[in-house]
Amino acid sequence: MQTHTDQKLGWIGAGRMGYAMAERLAKGGCDLAVWNRTREKALPLEKSGARVVNQLEELSTSDILFVMVSTFDDVKQVLGRALGKGKPKMVVECSSISLEGSAELRALLQSKGIEYLAAPVSGNAKVIKAGKLTFVVSGPRSAYETAKPYLDMMGTGSSYVGEGELSRIAKICHNVMLGVVIQNLCEITVLAEKAGMPRHAFLEFLNKSVMGSMFTRYKTPALVNLDFHVTFTPKLLRKDLDLGLDAGRHFGVPMPLTSITRDLLQQMIGRGMTEEDFSTLLVMQAQNSDLDIKPENVQVSDGLS
Ligand SMILES: NC(=O)c1ccc[n+]([C@@H]2O[C@H](COP(=O)([O-])OP(=O)(O)OC[C@H]3O[C@@H](n4cnc5c(N)ncnc54)[C@H](OP(=O)(O)O)[C@@H]3O)[C@@H](O)[C@H]2O)c1
Repeated sequence: MQTHTDQKLGWIGAGRMGYAMAERLAKGGCDLAVWNRTREKALPLEKSGARVVNQLEELSTSDILFVMVSTFDDVKQVLGRALGKGKPKMVVECSSISLEGSAELRALLQSKGIEYLAAPVSGNAKVIKAGKLTFVVSGPRSAYETAKPYLDMMGTGSSYVGEGELSRIAKICHNVMLGVVIQNLCEITVLAEKAGMPRHAFLEFLNKSVMGSMFTRYKTPALVNLDFHVTFTPKLLRKDLDLGLDAGRHFGVPMPLTSITRDLLQQMIGRGMTEEDFSTLLVMQAQNSDLDIKPENVQVSDGLS
């Protein structure tokens, strides 16, 4: 029977997501070594029991090497260096990357005799802290069984969807929905406010209704009080909508709502609204509606804490 200390874990990437995920493994007592390009960002993980290494190469002898960076190019860069000398038994790649990128990675790792799981996630850093992160995983079932206890420690568990890159498609579909839903939520929230009702009152009703969701609830404080601390950047969301549109072209599926949402997001990025959360789509929607939007300064629940 496997325990959480059986495997020597390596972790690449301590950004918003990677940090919070690695922290759960470290706090769970795992044997965990972490590397981040900006080392200082990873250092606080040592308080939770992780070891922060100086060189990527030090992770090459991990049993399971997790990767959580930004784009496929970044994944290629970090793995190129991490696999320079040694060879981990398994790589679990959690960033949101394309189907093609993931397949390229699988071929490369297979040629080196390294097992590979494609394991993108749903949830932001706050969701991870609340223990509600979920993984969607594809690759060899035996590799999944080995990695599963660690995936479970990072949230509410994982869904195994089959061989190859199937999980990438599931994640791309998920984030397309994220983009389309936030845009729609911003549209209707501005409509409700322009018609005369406070945003918090409208969203309270929506969140209690059948249309309310964990997502609409945890975005409510941002939409009510205009707190746009980044959970996910507009550029990363644009990347995911582009991945969705590419997949739609590849499989011959029209995606009209995704196209429109992608263009709106591009308009926002073109206006220089890049450094705050993707939910600043609300501000652009208000500007386009001639609405002078202001924080309501009302305490509202995010449904997580
Ligand atoms: N945020 C979310 O809500 C969310 C949810 C689900 C999935 N995702 C996906 O998760 C991934 C990470 O997102 P995030 O929000 O954590 O992003 P982030 O906060 O911007 O962190 C990005 C991480 O990647 C590292 N990195 C980027 N390029 C690199 C390179 N060329 N070489 C080495 N390291 C590099 C960064 O290192 P530095 O610290 O040195 O910059 C940082 O550790 C993305 O693929 C994103 O689409 C995000």
